[in-house]
Amino acid sequence: MNPATPPSRQGTAPTAAPPTRRAAPATADDAAPAPTGAWQASVGAASNADLKLAMAASGTVLSVFTVGHMAGNMQVYLGRERYNRYALLLRHAGAPVLPANTLLWAARIGLLASTATHVAAGTELTLRAWRAEGRTVAGTVRQVTRQVATVVDRRPRLALPGRPMGVPRQMTGTAQVYRRAPFDGALLPGRFDADAPRRRPRGRRRSVPQMIARSMRSTGAVLGLFVTYHVLDLTTGTRPAASRSFEHGDAYGNLVGSLSRPVVAVFYTASMAALAGHMVHGLRTAALDTGLTTTARRVHRVDVAAKAVGAVVAVGNASIPLAVSFKVVR
Ligand code: HEM
Repeated sequence: MNPATPPSRQGTAPTAAPPTRRAAPATADDAAPAPTGAWQASVGAASNADLKLAMAASGTVLSVFTVGHMAGNMQVYLGRERYNRYALLLRHAGAPVLPANTLLWAARIGLLASTATHVAAGTELTLRAWRAEGRTVAGTVRQVTRQVATVVDRRPRLALPGRPMGVPRQMTGTAQVYRRAPFDGALLPGRFDADAPRRRPRGRRRSVPQMIARSMRSTGAVLGLFVTYHVLDLTTGTRPAASRSFEHGDAYGNLVGSLSRPVVAVFYTASMAALAGHMVHGLRTAALDTGLTTTARRVHRVDVAAKAVGAVVAVGNASIPLAVSFKVVR
């Protein structure tokens, strides 16, 4: 690890000069073509610094919404009437000057624009970082597939001496031990063995902040999935995402009806862990990218603040599915 690079920046795209390819792709079909057309004309033409600024700004908007939404959600503990009154207030905010739902729709448009900006800038930065490392989309998909398959079956299967099945010789020349997925050679043909995750030697295992930093794309994907499901579940009332008892106008009843389903309660709670990690690292990175952290003391303060915000939001939100599951809220 480069000591000049703050730990929270590890695993993110480089900000300096345009990326150069370090290693040629293995095959022609592996090559990740640079996006062209409308994408290139808009997102693709932006500098890395501009993209990071866009990510910081849109991420901050989304974080402010998430904090406010969690605070509003806490009213569920005050009972059905108070919670439904709060939901109604959101729809009639600005009345009688503004027609019903005006501010709600303004907020929805702002949230959608921020989400689109965040995802587009994040995708472009990811593609640039991969190209700089000589990685390809196809190769990364194979690697992730392999990792998921390995997690499915964590039993150590193979400890081969030397150089097993196409794994490149390591600098140290030591034997590599890795776990094989249960369906090796079936869904994942042998030529993908080069992508097999190897066990990290002791002492080089990643710390929790490093793991969180490297999981930003995965936690972001989980949140995208969560929000899509969540809106179908509690806003539009679309079955089967929503519960059978969904009724427009009864936000409290809909929430209790939905979270009384154990699988949904587990999904909501687990998604809040992804939210915590994404917010903590995202807020810290936003502060770094916008130059708010010029001294070690400020870095420390930002670190503490990001952890506090992420933890409060996640714990506050996660308490709701738990409270419904344990019938504290019903
Ligand atoms: C367990 C935690 C959460 C609970 C109990 C919850 C509850 C709710 C409820 C009841 C609604 C519907 C409000 C209404 O229609 O009147 C809603 C809407 C929404 N929630 Fe959540 N929420 C949670 C977490 C989150 C998180 C973490 C996010 C974002 C990261 C989020 C994003 C949204 C969005 C975008 C809407 C749609 C707003 C709209 O367009 O009307 N929620 N939530």
